[in-house]
Amino acid sequence: MPSLSDIRQTFLGYFEKNGHRVVESSPLVPRNDPTLMFANSGMVQFKNLFTGVETRDYQRATTAQKCVRAGGKHNDLDNVGYTARHHTFFEMLGNFSFGDYFKEGAIPFAWELLTKEFDIPRHRLLVTVYHTDDEAAAIWKKVAGLSDDRIIRIPTSDNFWQMGPTGPCGPCTEIFFDHGDSIPGGPPGSADEDGDRFIEIWNLVFMQNEQFEDGSMRALDMQSIDTGMGLERIGALLQGKHDNYDTDLMRALIEASANVTSVDPDGPGKVHHRVIADHLRSTSFLIADGVMPSNEGRGYVLRRIMRRAMRHAHMLGATDPVMHKLVPALVRQMGAAYPELTRAQAMIEETLRSEETRFRQTLDRGLRLLDDELAKLPDGADLPGETAFKLYDTFGFPLDLTQDALREKGRGVQIEGFDAAMAEQKRMARAAWSGSGEAADARIWFELADKHGVTEFLGYDTEEAEGQVMALVIDGAEVAEAAAGTKVTIVVNQTPFYAESGGQVGDAGLIRTETGAARVADTKKVAGVFLHQAEVTAGVISRGQGAQLAVDHERRGAIRANHSATHLLHEALRGVLGEHVAQRGSLNAPDRLRFDFSHNSALSAEEMTRIEAEVNSFIRQNSPVETRLMTPDEARALGAQALFGEKYGDEVRVVSMGVHPGSGKGADGAAYSLELCGGTHVARTGDIGAFVLLGDAASSAGVRRIEALTGQAALDHLRAADRRLGEIAGILKAQSADVVNRVRALADERKALANEVAQLKRQLAMSSGGASEAEEVAGVRFIARRVEGVGGKELGALVEEMKASLGSGAVLLLAEDGGKATVAAGVTPDLTGRISAVALVQAATAALGGKGGGGRPDRAQGGAPSLAAAETAFQDARKIIEDSK
Ligand code: ALA
Repeated sequence: MPSLSDIRQTFLGYFEKNGHRVVESSPLVPRNDPTLMFANSGMVQFKNLFTGVETRDYQRATTAQKCVRAGGKHNDLDNVGYTARHHTFFEMLGNFSFGDYFKEGAIPFAWELLTKEFDIPRHRLLVTVYHTDDEAAAIWKKVAGLSDDRIIRIPTSDNFWQMGPTGPCGPCTEIFFDHGDSIPGGPPGSADEDGDRFIEIWNLVFMQNEQFEDGSMRALDMQSIDTGMGLERIGALLQGKHDNYDTDLMRALIEASANVTSVDPDGPGKVHHRVIADHLRSTSFLIADGVMPSNEGRGYVLRRIMRRAMRHAHMLGATDPVMHKLVPALVRQMGAAYPELTRAQAMIEETLRSEETRFRQTLDRGLRLLDDELAKLPDGADLPGETAFKLYDTFGFPLDLTQDALREKGRGVQIEGFDAAMAEQKRMARAAWSGSGEAADARIWFELADKHGVTEFLGYDTEEAEGQVMALVIDGAEVAEAAAGTKVTIVVNQTPFYAESGGQVGDAGLIRTETGAARVADTKKVAGVFLHQAEVTAGVISRGQGAQLAVDHERRGAIRANHSATHLLHEALRGVLGEHVAQRGSLNAPDRLRFDFSHNSALSAEEMTRIEAEVNSFIRQNSPVETRLMTPDEARALGAQALFGEKYGDEVRVVSMGVHPGSGKGADGAAYSLELCGGTHVARTGDIGAFVLLGDAASSAGVRRIEALTGQAALDHLRAADRRLGEIAGILKAQSADVVNRVRALADERKALANEVAQLKRQLAMSSGGASEAEEVAGVRFIARRVEGVGGKELGALVEEMKASLGSGAVLLLAEDGGKATVAAGVTPDLTGRISAVALVQAATAALGGKGGGGRPDRAQGGAPSLAAAETAFQDARKIIEDSK
């Protein structure tokens, strides 16, 4: 009996030997579809190949595609566990032709694979075709020899396949297996077709049209093939089972669940085991593809599935978390075909364990409340919506979990009451915000959040994705479109752009639609709505359009490196300066990082060197950066650094990086840096490249501010510094290593020379005059002269020398140096009773157009704009001496 793994391999191998490229499953979170929540069929990743927008180096492909149908349009969640063929996660096997073969190729391939490779008896097979598709009917007849009654013509959309409201589409032919008349049910198209006798196993779509938003449909330039076969169904058939859950793979998971809970897999707990087995697959694969439990969007779908499984585990009597214990069984079954599962095993186990631990804290009380409330209701009555809301709000019961619990008791929920309670809660959240002063500006974003939901952030895992334009806002008002040259805020349903928060700046990049392009300069968020602040650069962007969003990769890479380096820096500061260091603010921009922290004194050169060296050593360690979700309490218990006074939600992202040498693995709490952080980070510390501290300064009392560079910017900085050093060495004609000594010697030499020059100038001034040039004014020997080439500072010394040479008398010297005039005067001690040097200076500066001047009676000094009126200054000074008689 072939295992599901064998069947998957046979399928891919068959098409590979028939010229098909085996392409890996795309991630569950579609990167190339604006509206799809999860990949739900094999063709999603090839959408643009069918329309001809994209071409690759192959025209035939085959895949085993991971699919999730939960949340969004195809929601099978409610049925899972209770039916034979519903799954939240399944694998779709498919073969694809992009303008290569068409019907004439696809039908023989399918027939040969089923009847030869899989050896399914021909008489058990029958097919449907679109009612007008004579061509397909004729090929079936020819290739398979099917009689007319086994080629059933279906006039409905069942045989016209569309991927969604828009996109590639075409008629299809479906292959059915007849389980025989022991099982009730009629053939497709008959009144009792929903019975279990005839089971659809394979859908072949003849892609030949494209559906547009306005309802029109055009023929595609090329004709293509898209097929889909559920592995679980074909597996059940080939293993002689009627129930997908009896296949080897699903059975192994059910048995693992039975083992862990010690409950018979086939007894009364059967449904619970089936739910657990299915949900284990969807949750594990979603986590492996980067989805994390949250209260919004995809994360909330994941949480709903997880919690539904956890309630069923609880009903099996499990008292401790069980889901994470089943992951090894899943990895054994599927890890070889999907290596991402193996890679993410630790992350999956940790996320499941943490979610189940947390949910268990309220699960019992919630279920008790539910029972109490039901006991109060009349028999069979639905649960009031307010109670369901309380279970949601207080006990963490997603609505469908409550519905699932009630289903077993044959009851439902009054949905209107639940919706009303939810709306009221949102209204109150809005009212609370209006108090914050930004109400007027923010109102529109709250309205958009209400109308379209919050924006889903995809940017932890990707820098490019498609989204749908939900709103365009100019000056606080919504517009239907924005044309080239307009500045506009673009709101989309999902985005890879990071919105500014936690010190990390918002992303920049490009948004493109079919009709236009816009450059995003910054991204912010209000009320969970991401605001892409953009300028339309070409064409027109309209509300409702699908959009390609691409983050500026280089810029984001630099931001990421700076942000991760900030975490290492924080830890290094604590290590070198002490545990009192706490973050007070930070900025993670593309060109640099800035970090404010509590510390009282300037950092010494030695501390800076140690901090820089420590950060760089963890960069070189190149250990993986890990992100986990947990409650704030769990995070604190691990010792994670949190911002004091910051409000954290029910769960936080904890980013860990670096491993203490010799401590083993980081994830067990021995990580070097462990911080609560919602930002984006490098994958490994080595991606930071390099780290250079620029310097430290006081920011405010008790807070220091440090700036640093990473990666290329750090290297550029060092290179520029080195170049400058080289230039200096060139000028000095010295080796770089000798530059410091040479500059020090030059500075000393310069100082000595300056002293010598001053000395010489004074000597020169003295030698050209002195006592011999003194005049007599009212019996006082007076030297009044301009001196050249002597600076302000030297002038005083010169006055003293002249006083000494006079023995008795007064001196007034004027000098001009560097556009500034200096006035200095001196009076020998025997005359200070009669004449004051201060009076002489003041008279002279006044005459020169200056003001003031001061000193002592024996020596004074002042300044003036110029010496243009030097003669008047001397004159006025003489007058003072005359008047003193
Ligand atoms: N895309 C087709 C389907 O999902 C094959 O059924």
